[in-house]
This record gives sequence, structure tokens and C-alpha cells, in this order.
Amino acid sequence: MTSGWRGNGTGNSGINMNSDGVSFTASGDGIGAVTDLAKPIQLEDAIIDMVVNVSPEFKASGTSLQIFAQIKGGDWAGEWNCWSGNELLTAGTDTAITCTISEGDKKFNQLDSDVQIGVQAKGTPTGTVTIKSGKVTLKQTASSSSSTGSVYSANVNSLRELADFTIGVAVSNNDSPTYNILTNASEKALVEKHFEQMTAGNIMKMSYLQNTQGNFTFANADAFVDYAKSKNMTVHGHALVWHAEYQVPAFMKSWSGSAADFITALETHITTVVDHFEAKGNLHSWDVVNEALTDGNPSTFRAVDSTFYIKSGNSAIYIEKAFLAARAAAPEATLYYNDYNIEQNGAKMTKLEEMLTDFKARNIPIDGVGFQMHVCQNYPSASSIAAAMKRVVDKGLKVKITELDVAINQPYCDSYPANKVSTFTQSIALAQKKRYCEIIKAYIDTVPAALRGGISVWGTTDANTWLNDLYRTEFNNEKISWPLLFDSNYNDKPALRGFADALQGVACTNL
Ligand code: XIL
Repeated sequence: MTSGWRGNGTGNSGINMNSDGVSFTASGDGIGAVTDLAKPIQLEDAIIDMVVNVSPEFKASGTSLQIFAQIKGGDWAGEWNCWSGNELLTAGTDTAITCTISEGDKKFNQLDSDVQIGVQAKGTPTGTVTIKSGKVTLKQTASSSSSTGSVYSANVNSLRELADFTIGVAVSNNDSPTYNILTNASEKALVEKHFEQMTAGNIMKMSYLQNTQGNFTFANADAFVDYAKSKNMTVHGHALVWHAEYQVPAFMKSWSGSAADFITALETHITTVVDHFEAKGNLHSWDVVNEALTDGNPSTFRAVDSTFYIKSGNSAIYIEKAFLAARAAAPEATLYYNDYNIEQNGAKMTKLEEMLTDFKARNIPIDGVGFQMHVCQNYPSASSIAAAMKRVVDKGLKVKITELDVAINQPYCDSYPANKVSTFTQSIALAQKKRYCEIIKAYIDTVPAALRGGISVWGTTDANTWLNDLYRTEFNNEKISWPLLFDSNYNDKPALRGFADALQGVACTNL
């Protein structure tokens, strides 16, 4: 929404577009701001929602606002029945206003002309009006009942510009050719607009870099890291050690040598990889060990399903060895232990805390904890998330949200399948907006600035989320999740506005 708007009404003095919204000086009757919707468009029965914020002068002037739509050209026929009276507006407070396009002759179902929509001041106004966000929800037709047909703008110029900590995103490379950040122009445009750090979704995992022992293959990762550098972006290294089957090199899985030699092989991997990327100069942080704890109660070090635990002689010693090797190779880098479900603040967090206490006591070089944060719409609560982060902060360690997404229909929470939904409705989208806002707010409120490692989301658009892949076969081939900030067409989702609201200190709402 920060592009494409213009001032409207005789004598308007233009608009200001910045991270706060689109604002105009209400210097007379009919002064406002408009944006265009291109033909063909079926705007009849559509709902236009805006969130506006008026200055004290505007409120005091006693004037009202009017959302309107006009068919461009001809006699500029319009929808003029929508009013937001002065009594509805509170100075300096975000206020939702709405308009339903309802012209009996259906003239807004336009094949021939573009339409402009906007808001204007009515009466003898003074002061300013800021449009914080706007959305148009088209009427559902029988043939497209699974789609809300909404056009939404979160009015966010650049997410990273709103934060005083690092804002990142996981991207695909040749591991997912359709969405490869190096070749897909839409991915590039979105990432370059909003983010300042990237994580490789896969290609810096173990088998991608050392599939057979001693043969390191850096070409793909190098191309990615170089691209990031060319765009002034850093890369968060993910991940040096992770037990997940699909990316543990076969030579490690079938290791038949001694535990000591296995640890040496692990150290060689870490040293070689970290040394290599240190030379690039734009990697300042690593997930050194990923997911080494179980989800049980009590939680323990992952054992039977971890090659690293087993081949280290049924020992968790590999974790500290990994941190020591990473520190030796990158004295300045921020070294994270990364895991999921720790934000539930339960047994897993307790086990993690025990490990952190132990590492600190023995000077094992760990700088922070990565909270993956693959969370549900309602679970865990923002207060659990904050409490878990506080336990890390209290140890003087950094907190980085490394893989944020908010899944709808996550099979392990929110009363699935009883509450399963088959359509991503506007109200779900707005609930997700509030959820994103509350998570980011919990982070900002809990983690002091010096300990903020930043926040990264795990993917760009809903079209390319790992959750669809993971749950597709396990859960009746469902491809339902909508967890990210942008929809499958690279449009903003309300979730993006929620993220921005928290960064801007705006109250978290589902408006
Ligand atoms: C995921 C990738 O996004 C998928 O493409 C891949 O199939 C599986 O791994 N926690 C992590 C990430 O630390 O590495 C995982 O990434 C998602 C869960």
C-alpha cells in the first residue's frame, strides 16, 4: 500500500507514504487518498476495510471520514453511502472503518474501466488522517467458494526497516528449483524488499556439503552466500550438526570406527565448513547443534535416533565438541543451540536449561539459543513463550527466533482435527495476524536489545512451506497450513501487518 496511492480532491497537497502508513492533510471537504483497482473487477458487494488513525486536530474539527469507490472516467460514478462519523474516531488511536459496495445497478462489476477506492474527509476538516492498512474482500461467487478473493496490503514498505534487530528468512535454493532464490524473480523481489538475513532451508546441512567423507561440495552454498553478500545480506549458518535422517551423510550413519575417530570426523566437518564460510565474511552466526533433545517428560539427550549420540559412544559429548570446534574456527561468530518445542516452557526447556548451566560452568562456548518456533495458532501461549525465553535471557545468553511459522491445522495442537478448517478465511487470517504480533511482542518485551539475535521466518510464501511437505502424507494428503507472511501469489497477508504492528509498538488486534 505504500506505493500506488495518491492524493485526491480539489486542492489536495499530496500524501505521505512511510512505514506508518499513507497520510494526508485534511485541508478541506473531499480531500483524501485513493488507489486504483484494475479492470476487470467485480467490486459489487465487496467490503472495503481500513484501519485509520486521525490526529487530535482532525477529531476536534468534528468532521467525518467516508470510504468511497469510483469508476474512473465518464461521470466518475461512485459509491457514496459509506460514512464513518466523527464520533467513531479517536484521536491517535487505530480505528477500523468499513464500507460495503452496494449499488443496485451493479455498476461496480466493471469490465471496461478501472476503479479507484479511497477515503476522504467530509465537512470542514483540519489535521491529518493516516491510513494504516486497507483490504478489499470481494464477494464470493459460487464457482470460487474456496477463495475469499481478497486483495490485501499490509502497508509495510520493508519489514527490516521497522526493527532494530535482524529480520531474516529461510529460502530455497537448488533443493527446490521452482522457488530457487537465485533464479526466481518473485522470490528475490520479496526477500530483497523485506529481509536482511537469509538461512538456507537445506543446502548448508551436512550431506549437502560433505556427502562422502572428505569430499566437500560448496558450489551451491557458495552461489547462495555470494548472492546474499551482493545484496548486503548476512547468512545465518544452518546447521552444522543435526540428526535428521535425510541429511546425515551415509558415511556417518554407517560409521564402524571408534567413537574418538567419529568425533574427529565430526570436528573435521565443522572446522572445514566454518573455515570455508568465514572467508566469505557475511556469516556471523551458526546453529551449531540442532534438535539434540527429546520431547519426552523428562526430556533427555536424543539417543536412539541420533547418529551423533550413538557413534560418539552413546554419549552427548558430541554437542560440546561441536561448539568447541565451531568456536575455534570462528572466534567472533555467535554460536547457537537450536531446537523446537522449547517455547512450550516444559520438560524440554528444563533439560536445555540444565545443559546451558553445565556448559556455562565448564566454559563450553555457547552464545545463545535458537528458538525454532514452529508454533500453532493458539499454542503455546505467548506467556509460555516469554517465560521460556526469559530462562535463556537469565543465563545472559542470546535468543534468536530462527524458524518462525504459525501453522493453521497443525496436527499436534489446536484441537486438530476437530477444529480443522478447509478455507483460509479472513477471520483466520486476522487471528493469525494477532498471533504473529503477540509472538514478536513477547520477544521484544522479554529479550533485552543486547541479547536479541533477531527473528527469521521459515519460508517466504505459503506456496513453499515445509509444513505442507511434512504433513502431506502423514495426514490424509492434506496440504493445509498457511503459516507464513505472504500468500501463494506473493501478496501480503495480515500476518505481515501483525509482525509490523509489534515492531512498531502498535497493539496486537485481529482487526
Ligand atoms: C526442513 C526443510 O525446510 C525442508 O525442506 C526439509 O525437507 C526438512 O527440513 N527444523 C529445522 C529445519 O531445523 O532444518 C527444518 O527444515 C524444519 C524443522
